[in-house]
Amino acid sequence: MSYIAGMSRKAIVVLFFGLLFLSSCKHETFLMDPSEGGNPLPVIHECHPDSIYFQNQILPLFQSSCGIVGCHDAITAEEDIMLNSYENIMASGELIPFDLSDGDIYENITDTDPDNIMPPPPNAPLTPEQIQMIATWILQGAQNNSCDGCDYPLVSFSGTVLPLIQNKCEGCHSGADPASNTTLSTHEDVIFLVNNDYLIEVISWQTGYEPMPYNGNKLPQCEIDMIQQWIDDGAPNN
Ligand code: HEC
Repeated sequence: MSYIAGMSRKAIVVLFFGLLFLSSCKHETFLMDPSEGGNPLPVIHECHPDSIYFQNQILPLFQSSCGIVGCHDAITAEEDIMLNSYENIMASGELIPFDLSDGDIYENITDTDPDNIMPPPPNAPLTPEQIQMIATWILQGAQNNSCDGCDYPLVSFSGTVLPLIQNKCEGCHSGADPASNTTLSTHEDVIFLVNNDYLIEVISWQTGYEPMPYNGNKLPQCEIDMIQQWIDDGAPNN
């Protein structure tokens, strides 16, 4: 941890009290993005329904659909582009805040030509909702923002669980060659994991299970709680 060694004593004291302050918040907060080697934290706000938040919504989608092994992860870095952290996404130069007409990332995810569209086949393309979410985030300035809390008053499969899985899992678990031979696109797919005691186990990083999202950040506790609540309700297809 050379960045700690390089810090002044004062900075360490400030960091210590800063972390103490953060850990006193009632919800889980995004302490550090491990892929960024411990950069300072983004400021944490209450979730606002009209805003799109990078840490909560955009990063998990990039991590599961773009920054994956064989594509734009740190090792493969296809075309020298890494899409696995805020710094790397912005450093690609392919995403311009407030501007959808410039920057290849937005162009590629909306391309209709199968030779150019990202993610490329056999991966599933992003859904219109996911593309809209990225567009809104870019138009709101493509900030490294995050918010505290889960803004879902009613838990349902179609309104809560499926969108979460689409953003955080489906990028790897879909298409012609899904990770671990596991597709996660329908109620039936998800129920299969629930019935085999796999879903909560992998997302809460229980020992003996592969922690999911693979190489990604752990889901905030409130999202795990919502999925648990849906399971406790009988995992309905509602
Ligand atoms: C970046 C790609 C990626 C993402 C995102 C991802 N997975 Fe996976 N998943 C994998 C890979 C790769 C494996 C196989 C891991 C292994 O066996 O080493 C896997 C394995 C699994 C398994 C089987 C685990 C086992 O022990 O056999 C389950 C269940 C699973 N994932 C669920 C999920 C869920 C739920 C999410 C979303 C919260 C998710 N995955 C997100 C890539 C991903």
